[in-house]
Amino acid sequence: MAEITSPRTRLEAQAEGTAHRVERVWAWSMAAIMAALVTVVVFSALHWGLNPPSSVETIDSTRLQLGGEFSEANLGTSAAPNGAITVRLLAQQYAFNPSCILVPADTPITLRGVSADVVHGLLVEGTNVNTMLVPGYVATLTTRFSQPGEYTMPCHEFCGVGHQGMWARVRVVSPQAFPLEQAKQEPVRCERK
Ligand code: CUA
Repeated sequence: MAEITSPRTRLEAQAEGTAHRVERVWAWSMAAIMAALVTVVVFSALHWGLNPPSSVETIDSTRLQLGGEFSEANLGTSAAPNGAITVRLLAQQYAFNPSCILVPADTPITLRGVSADVVHGLLVEGTNVNTMLVPGYVATLTTRFSQPGEYTMPCHEFCGVGHQGMWARVRVVSPQAFPLEQAKQEPVRCERK
């Protein structure tokens, strides 16, 4: 690179001073914006429990119905012998299976969702449940519904012409009303009650 050896004029020095000032303003603005974004991320993570899925787990989306964890018979809410609750659901154009999820209130719940075709969105309104269901991956997240009630679970990722009508419900019942013993035998869901 050729070095500039000519003596600097006053004008050049002024221009450089201006450039430095503008650069500083730019750098500080960017730092402020980044700090604001980090604050939003930290606040939503700590205050609302909104976190991206922390593990990457792959699955063959073309063979979900042929057996394994997400076969028809395994979809719904299961309870482990120790009472731990896991909900398994499958998204497919244009429905969720199960279309109504039954869970106990005030209980830690692990949600495991997959898509059998395209990208769908999993969202339970008013909770921290909010993730994408990407073909080839298992989305796992944990949540807790503080009180009984009925929640809407719309697909929030455009997935085709039927996207608007793709939604399911989550029915939260009191821990006493939840068929825990049955859920230890086979997955439960509200349609089957
Ligand atoms: Cu499924 Cu939108």
